Amino acid sequence: MKFICYYAQEFEDFRLTELQSICNIFNIPVIMYLDQYDISRPYLIISVDSVTMVQQILSRSVLLKSISEYWAEGVSLEDVGANFKQFCDFKKNTSDKESFKFQIESTNKKLSMEEKVHYMESLQRYVEFSGEVDLKSPTAVYLLMLHFNAEKIPSHIYFGKLVGVSQRNQIHVFNLKTRYFIGNTSMDPQLAFIMANIAEVQNKSFCYDPFVGTGSIILACSHFGGISGGSDIDFNVVFGRGKSSRAGSNLKAQDEIVRTNFEHYKIERKYWDILACDATHMPIRANELFDVIVTDPPYGIREGGRKLGSKKDSTWEIPENLREEHIPAKKFHALSSIIMDLFEFSFKYLVVGGRLVYWLPVFRPSYSGEIIPKYPGFKLTANCEQVLTTNISRRLITMAKTTKFEFREGENGSLSSVNHQSMDWVKQQDNFRNNYFKKQDVS
Ligand SMILES: C[S@@+](CC[C@H](N)C(=O)[O-])C[C@H]1O[C@@H](n2cnc3c(N)ncnc32)[C@H](O)[C@@H]1O
Repeated sequence: MKFICYYAQEFEDFRLTELQSICNIFNIPVIMYLDQYDISRPYLIISVDSVTMVQQILSRSVLLKSISEYWAEGVSLEDVGANFKQFCDFKKNTSDKESFKFQIESTNKKLSMEEKVHYMESLQRYVEFSGEVDLKSPTAVYLLMLHFNAEKIPSHIYFGKLVGVSQRNQIHVFNLKTRYFIGNTSMDPQLAFIMANIAEVQNKSFCYDPFVGTGSIILACSHFGGISGGSDIDFNVVFGRGKSSRAGSNLKAQDEIVRTNFEHYKIERKYWDILACDATHMPIRANELFDVIVTDPPYGIREGGRKLGSKKDSTWEIPENLREEHIPAKKFHALSSIIMDLFEFSFKYLVVGGRLVYWLPVFRPSYSGEIIPKYPGFKLTANCEQVLTTNISRRLITMAKTTKFEFREGENGSLSSVNHQSMDWVKQQDNFRNNYFKKQDVS
């Protein structure tokens, strides 16, 4: 059966990856008609075997607005009417007595109520429905989707019967403005949901964010059923101390911690906890534990990369009576090293087939696919761009673990094992902060 996917017009580069990932989660064989797909337009025609499968897709997607049965398309209403008449499944999919309403969606032009009524009335010249109109609770919603060109004339029209709407309402439910514990780098809820989808989080997936901060990403994972936790090097973030990021507040309340957010959304049963530790020195025995590692590493703009250690190469012994309260010193850690440590960590702690999903900042003028870092035992499965300025973007990189980790004494899979990779990548990452502060236009 053919369906019309109707998308929101943001994060366009993530659409196909999100859809394919959701289909992987539910084992849905999907055909995407990419020859007709244009990223600047919010429609994608797909074919899946049943309406139930469409409902599964809608139960996860935040990039889609809705999916409708595909009934007709054309460059004009006459065209749509002619195609509609040939639509042989129509009688199977609708009953004459079904109450209905029309819904008009437009892109590139905001339609007034009069214009919408005009389109509804014109459409009925070409397609007939004998059921009652019911604007409040119709049995069927027929969707007319009009795409306008630069001259504000409809250039393409789709017509179908609405199957359902997506999870976009969750973006508002998880809005950072209404969230209790937030920080300067809390992940945007929509992107957090996209990450959880692309990571293919399923019910009871064991999820981990090694740079967890305020836990926005793992909240999204747990909303989709994952059992989540993480770690952060910052004691204040983990234990609810220090300055609050909430407007008008000074010091953090003791309950300004990740767990409170899980309680607020009533998903605390899906939260196992976070550790105060350096992700580059995990205090847990290397073990293939996690199904998913999803993270936003500190890339040095608002959150500098850090690791435990002192700038002075001293070997000062902490007196016994100060050990419990001692907070270790931290030193600068270059972005390239953070990412290599993340790979090493993921190789040790992900199950085979598990996914690592992380953000990689790039300087667009010198970007090419070649600079995406590789790591033995992983294959790249997706690479989607979020443009931030003319020169800067960040890419959501997805890697699937293909090889089992076998711990051997003296061989820890560290930077030396990826020396075959061009060092251009390392240079580009470590210059990222300088590139970021170069004069730039905000697109
Ligand atoms: C970009 S923020 C992550 C924000 C998070 N996604 C959220 O929604 O709040 C990066 C986090 O990594 C932490 N971090 C930096 N270096 C670290 C390290 N070596 N180990 C663990 N956490 C680290 C920082 O304290 C910061 O909270």
